[in-house]
Amino acid sequence: MSHDLVIANGTVATASDEFDADIGIRDGRIVQIGGDMGNATRVIDATGRYVLPGGIDSHVHISQPSGPGIVMADDFDSATRAAAFGGNTTVMPFCLQERGQSLTAAFRDYREKAEGAHVDFGFHMIITDPTPQILGQELPALIEEGQRSVKVFMTYEAMRMDDAGILATMDVARRHGARIMVHCENEDVIAFLAARAEDTGDIAPRAHATTRPVAAEREATHRALTLAEVVDIPIVIVHVSNGAAIDEIARARARGVNITAETCPQYLVLEAEDLSRDNWEGAKFVCSPPPRDTVEQQNCWRGLETGLFDLFSSDHCPFRYEDEQGKRNPAGLRSFRHIPNGIPGIETRLPILFSEGVMKGRIDLPRFVALTSTNHARTYDMYPRKGTIAVGSDADITIWDPHVRKTIQHAGLHDAADYSPYEGFEVTGWPETVILRGVPVVEAGQMTTSGIGAEVPRTAR
Ligand code: URP
Ligand code: ZN
Ligand code: ZN
Ligand code: ZN
Repeated sequence: MSHDLVIANGTVATASDEFDADIGIRDGRIVQIGGDMGNATRVIDATGRYVLPGGIDSHVHISQPSGPGIVMADDFDSATRAAAFGGNTTVMPFCLQERGQSLTAAFRDYREKAEGAHVDFGFHMIITDPTPQILGQELPALIEEGQRSVKVFMTYEAMRMDDAGILATMDVARRHGARIMVHCENEDVIAFLAARAEDTGDIAPRAHATTRPVAAEREATHRALTLAEVVDIPIVIVHVSNGAAIDEIARARARGVNITAETCPQYLVLEAEDLSRDNWEGAKFVCSPPPRDTVEQQNCWRGLETGLFDLFSSDHCPFRYEDEQGKRNPAGLRSFRHIPNGIPGIETRLPILFSEGVMKGRIDLPRFVALTSTNHARTYDMYPRKGTIAVGSDADITIWDPHVRKTIQHAGLHDAADYSPYEGFEVTGWPETVILRGVPVVEAGQMTTSGIGAEVPRTAR
């Protein structure tokens, strides 16, 4: 049999294995692993390279409305371009239902916005307004058609849900077979501390971190886990930042709660101290939960090493720093409270974990693959079409150069923000060639396709 593409001489890694083999690809799928490859239209030599399942970033915000006058830096064009250059072949953005809005209409809009994406994609629904219409009709219909993940927020005044709303949403999600994702921070604690900080003139970006303490995340994590336990639904605790929240997750798991736990690069390599940088520079590190300290960084590393965490996502949520719609706008200068929450990171997620995790001996290569690809596909109903290198799977492959050394500089990245919170960070290892369903989309530093991304069916193959 002849192949459209053969990837030769590389070291293949999956979530469970690492071995030398050639990969044969035909019609967008992997059709052969190892053995005599016969004829091929094209051969890519991967000598000295790792051949990995394409990265899946299951927590990104793209073109998401973020409040009056605030525009997210990335649309699907720029975000998915940056994703591809960062070694990703699938991303999962959120479809936000704003209060008073139809979820069905919001989802139609997002699907339209995603046309022309450069990598494959699937959506999570964000519910902010659990009305009878939404919970009784719109959400069940969307879940039945395959949108099987729903995020709710315990914080942000415009998005938060009270416990009654969360229970009702969880109940609908459980009955129709969706997973619930929860942003765990106690809004009343934060509002209280933020008002007190502003009253005392403590308005600089650093106050964003001090008014969102570990205690607010720990309590909310415990409460979300309790609600999921009561309803009996699988729960994803997103963007976990600290050891106390990790302990809550471990305890609930021991009670039998079905938990998927996620952490992000910002909790490994950024600190609350970064928010203290001069001249409002600290605004570049404002995200929620905030980066903590070196002790909590170690706690998060331990969670990655021990298997407590299943998912490593970017929580890419890009806002511009310089212009009038950015983090430093006149309203922003009034107080930390007006800085939009979120930082860019879609292109730097894999290099940071590879360099700090694999190269420094904290995690092995299969665990890297599990954390950045396979577990995302499993959690969100895309496996084994996505997230692995196996016969029959989509040929989504990242050829990884483990030797190249790079200093992260925003000028070399492809998102539409105007800075990187990781500016100056040195990494070893970077994606070299990125292949989506058998087609190279990034090669020799160039994007070689345009808009071939498609929505991923949320069922097994
Ligand atoms: O600060 C953050 N993380 N912004 C993105 C929205 C969210 O809560 O995930
Ligand atoms: Zn969140
Ligand atoms: Zn997020
Ligand atoms: Zn950019």
